[in-house]
Amino acid sequence: MSGFLGSGTPLIADLSLVSLWVLGAVAVGGWVVARQRAFPRHCRLMAWVTFLAWLPILFGMVVPWLGLIRLGSTVFAQPATVVPFMHGVTGGLAQLLMTYTILRMNWRRKWPPRRPLWLMRISLALWLLSIVGGTGVYLLLYG
Ligand code: HEM
Repeated sequence: MSGFLGSGTPLIADLSLVSLWVLGAVAVGGWVVARQRAFPRHCRLMAWVTFLAWLPILFGMVVPWLGLIRLGSTVFAQPATVVPFMHGVTGGLAQLLMTYTILRMNWRRKWPPRRPLWLMRISLALWLLSIVGGTGVYLLLYG
């Protein structure tokens, strides 16, 4: 099915892009809330953002990414395959790190590290960078 952002873009790609930008904006809002020291609201917001982000990732990205794996070493032959492949690796690590951070901050206080401020900063920065990288993938494939 055709998307709504341009002619011929797949609907799932447009939905993934827009939903992750919305979630990214909410995450930045969640960071502002933390700066205002409203920590319970910050924790809830970041948990929602992280869990909802699994939806576009699982339904819009993992399947095409598994298709890239099946190409074997020829995945490195052209930008249209190697860029989404590498984005999948780095974005996957960012999403897993975000998920770990959410679990650590909300429900598993004894998990390392003891001082989690840098964990939160690094995971949010990598996660937001993944949105920028994913937008690059979108532009490369459909721009
Ligand atoms: C923080 C986590 C991630 C973010 C923010 C993110 C963001 C994005 C965005 C915005 C797009 C463009 C929309 C689209 O084409 O679907 C995209 C595309 C893509 N992503 Fe991700 N992504 C993340 C994680 C992953 C993971 C874990 C994988 C694979 C294991 C992956 C593989 C892909 C692939 C293959 C595409 C191109 C899809 C297509 O052919 O249309 N991404 N990503």
